[in-house]
Amino acid sequence: DVIDVSKLVANGVFTFDPGFTSTASCESKITFIDGEVGKLLHRGYSIEELAAKSDYLEVCYTLLYGELPTSEQKEQFVSTIKNHTMVHEQIRNFFNGFRRDAHPMAIMCGVVGALSAFYHDSLDINNPQHREITAYRLIAKMPTIAAMCYKYALGQPFMYPRNDLGYAENFLHMMFGNPCEESNISPTLAKAMDRIFILHADHEQNASTSTVRLAGSSGANPFACIAAGISALWGPAHGGANEAVLNMLDEIGSIDNIDTYIAKAKDKNDPFKLMGFGHRVYKNYDPRATVMRESCHEVLAELGVNDPKLELAMKLEEIALNDPYFKDKKLFPNVDFYSGIILKAIGIPTSMFTVIFALSRTVGWIAHWNEMISNPYKIGRPRQLYTGEAEREFVPVNERK
Ligand code: ACO
Repeated sequence: DVIDVSKLVANGVFTFDPGFTSTASCESKITFIDGEVGKLLHRGYSIEELAAKSDYLEVCYTLLYGELPTSEQKEQFVSTIKNHTMVHEQIRNFFNGFRRDAHPMAIMCGVVGALSAFYHDSLDINNPQHREITAYRLIAKMPTIAAMCYKYALGQPFMYPRNDLGYAENFLHMMFGNPCEESNISPTLAKAMDRIFILHADHEQNASTSTVRLAGSSGANPFACIAAGISALWGPAHGGANEAVLNMLDEIGSIDNIDTYIAKAKDKNDPFKLMGFGHRVYKNYDPRATVMRESCHEVLAELGVNDPKLELAMKLEEIALNDPYFKDKKLFPNVDFYSGIILKAIGIPTSMFTVIFALSRTVGWIAHWNEMISNPYKIGRPRQLYTGEAEREFVPVNERK
């Protein structure tokens, strides 16, 4: 007695596509991916060119407005973002409600969602000016909130943003700075950080962006939608992968154990997966991984880092890239394999990795939300393939066996 679902839909057409492997959920002009050849374009510009010639705030402008900014537009945009870097002082009190050992992603979900309690004008989603200011607020405040998560865990005073510094430099200053000292952030690290932000800025309809769009399709406010995106990003199959890479390296422990773990990854009965390998869309090399790999080697060389865990990562990369199982299944290292390694070299604790991904991806989320709200849209309402019981008679409790 199987229910014929095709009779339940208006036009009789019913597609079943678990994991949305071949279903487009929307139209979008923001980002193009060709997974077969490993191409990623934002508003038509290749990620390689953007990473080499642009900077994060310029990429933010381009994602939001569709064109590269002129120098005046860029200056104006940067200055507007800087005007919004502070968070309301009441947010400090909100932080105090969390345990010091809370995962920073747990705090991010709560604090970003709670921004809707502070900026009432941003809740007017039908006003384009209010939508614009919401985008500025989010891009500007995410580094401040992210750094506050870190300082809170350490029990150190929060650092106010320094608007005379660049976006990435200011973030590192708020993370590692001390209120009694001048900012002293290495330009190499600031550049590496900026590149990580660029490479994570957008990636079309991934799980978190689709979550933001779906939440937004009900008319929910943008802060609530971004908080939903942050929650979706947290999982190890998505944004949590960079943290999972470092945890996996801990578990592998030494170069001598790599073969055992490669064998586990190939074993169908073992749930272990090589974290930072594979991608739903890229069945050729992830172009962001190519840029991140270069950046990773540059940073390690420049910092003269000599960490056994990083050596282990490089050996794992070499072995997996030459293994027929990974080659046949087109499982290449993805962007998060290298971003985790760079972040570790910069001195960012593992628990903050996904927070940095969320900070970078905020522009993509808000650009997609805004694109959806600015055009005619419908509430997202997927159907299901029902596999439960057919209709049956209710049995009163005293007659049940
Ligand atoms: N290690 C070992 N085997 C793997 C891995 C891996 N990391 N990834 C995929 N496979 C295998 C699967 O077991 C499957 O084998 P089968 O065909 O014999 O059944 C095959 O490769 C295809 O994998 P799927 O899981 O079907 O691919 P899917 O597109 O659903 O998943 C995903 C992609 C989630 C990224 C997966 O590769 C994975 O879990 N990787 C590790 C986590 C990770 O790095 N995530 C970050 C993604 S990038 C980002 O969010 C920015």
